[in-house]
Amino acid sequence: MNKKDDICIYFFINFEFKKIMCGIVGYIGKREAYPILIKGLHRLEYRGYDSAGVALINGKQQLNVYKAKGKVADLEHAVESKDISGTIGIAHTRWATHGEPNQVNAHPHYSESEELAIIHNGIIENYAVLKQGLIENGYSFKSETDTEVLVQLIEHIKKTDKTDLQTAVQLALNQVVGAYAIVVLDQNNPDKMVAARKGSPLVIGIGENEYFLASDATPIVEFTDKVVYVGDEEIVHLRRNKELSIKTIGNVVKTPEIKKLEMTLSQLEKGGYPHFMLKEIFEQPTTLATSMRGRVNIEHNNITLAGFIDNKERFLNAKRIIITACGTSWHAGLIGMHAIEEFARIPVVVEYSSEFRYRSPVINSDDVVIAISQSGETADTLAAVELAKSHGAFIYGVCNVVGASIPRAAHSGSYTHVGPEIGVASTKAFTAQVAVLTMLALMIGREKGTLSQERYLQIVAELGKIPEKIKETLKQDDLLAEFAKTFTYAQNFIYLGRGYNYPIAMEGALKLKEISYIHAEGYPAAEMKHGPIALINEEMPVVVIAPHCGTYDKVVSNIQEIKARKGRIISIVTEGDTIVRDMSDYSISIPATEECLVPLLAAIPLQLLAYHIAVVKGRNVDQPRNLAKSVTVE
Ligand code: M6R
Repeated sequence: MNKKDDICIYFFINFEFKKIMCGIVGYIGKREAYPILIKGLHRLEYRGYDSAGVALINGKQQLNVYKAKGKVADLEHAVESKDISGTIGIAHTRWATHGEPNQVNAHPHYSESEELAIIHNGIIENYAVLKQGLIENGYSFKSETDTEVLVQLIEHIKKTDKTDLQTAVQLALNQVVGAYAIVVLDQNNPDKMVAARKGSPLVIGIGENEYFLASDATPIVEFTDKVVYVGDEEIVHLRRNKELSIKTIGNVVKTPEIKKLEMTLSQLEKGGYPHFMLKEIFEQPTTLATSMRGRVNIEHNNITLAGFIDNKERFLNAKRIIITACGTSWHAGLIGMHAIEEFARIPVVVEYSSEFRYRSPVINSDDVVIAISQSGETADTLAAVELAKSHGAFIYGVCNVVGASIPRAAHSGSYTHVGPEIGVASTKAFTAQVAVLTMLALMIGREKGTLSQERYLQIVAELGKIPEKIKETLKQDDLLAEFAKTFTYAQNFIYLGRGYNYPIAMEGALKLKEISYIHAEGYPAAEMKHGPIALINEEMPVVVIAPHCGTYDKVVSNIQEIKARKGRIISIVTEGDTIVRDMSDYSISIPATEECLVPLLAAIPLQLLAYHIAVVKGRNVDQPRNLAKSVTVE
């Protein structure tokens, strides 16, 4: 990557994308490993939280493995009276897809002799065949996991070939079909560990005579800013007080490329907020400014997205743009569609990645595919990218996590630069995705001449004011907290919006669903009368996004239809509005802005409303049930 703001050309990674969403962490060095590992697991807990485990080699060369069902705190409780000494160790937090989330299936897994232990993020697709072969060789299995098969295979090869751990890992991985990030410990070799990756992310932190290792940089940033992103099919040999050595599973020696980590510890802490989600909501004036920094030049009223400039012709010649994403990122994509069609006059379709990849979509080589993903690891979006690439489409990534799989697979793109988003409910990443897509739409429109210079300048100037206007909007947090108390009785919510705000209605509903567990639907306001209006009664809260924009009068009529059926209206209106406000039971105002930028403001009260309802209901806001931050399973 040679331009800070952009995702440069990346290589094609060809693998199967079914993976398990887990977090892995490792340490070898001079300090006690356990506290580092546990802290690391807490930082990675957003990746999965149904079971956790740790393996340590103590001073007597004993390999101790401890595991617990539940959260990292349950693991801490489980090891209270155990020997947790050792300056080398690995740990894991799991989100189960194969095998019940219980203590036996939790990682690390021992080998048959209990001399080796492994942690794994990924899936071994041919595990059944490998397992059968191992059973025939006398191996027995305690868990239902594919991971245990891998560690047994490594042990089998190590013993039968009388080889060292690194070679055994290499030979085993040559037999494996699937995706993995693994780390293996050998109690007979307490001065080294072997890690490898294919598909699932793995980062090594380089300290003073010590190494850290994790699924992402969050457990590492506290100790060092020097990192090596392990490449696909690379095996890393981490030895105490020795240089890092890397080779591929095909035996090609690689030189570790040390990069500087652009992340700070404060970004990973709650900074006085009770939840990461609230912190991240309140960070939005800053994160929006950061994602526009160096791109929106207020003085010259100009936008520069280097990822676009370098590939201008692909956009200008595109007959169609396909946006692909999941969840909140998909909602951002819908807003991007509105902006691109309005300003650049290029037809846009927005596809759920999971649907797109499994039908037989028509993809042409002159299509531009925009893949949006906070994590950059979402399996369906990554697969959609690979599919589009195989048809010759140009891939533009809009991602947050630097160096993740989607930006690596894309031809170009723009990072959203909002820093780590820890709360499972996406907030600051969403607004930055919308901002980046808006900037892109404006740039294409100007280059194509479909957007007049005058309009371009007006919108750019207004874009620059958005962080300040978000700050204004956030002042209504207390009011929203009050409203929230009123609505905790509700079993259902309806969210309505039109045009640019229809995706915001869906996003507001998704936020409420995922953290409060209240059923909610986002609908285009005018569609109510085609069916959902039957749901309206005096119990039904209806959130209406009704700012001053093109369809204002129509939305007013839609509100009247709901009022007539006694629905309870919570409205999001433009400052100074009296008409909708007077019709509403509750109302929140947002500063006036350009219609295309309203979503950046309207999203804020909806995030806060969902947050406060979830808090009043006593939900685990940052780690809602059944969810994980990075959805690396299909
Ligand atoms: O990392 P991604 O943006 O690709 O994630 C996509 C969805 O999983 C994500 O937006 C999800 O819907 C969030 N939990 C919503 O808050």
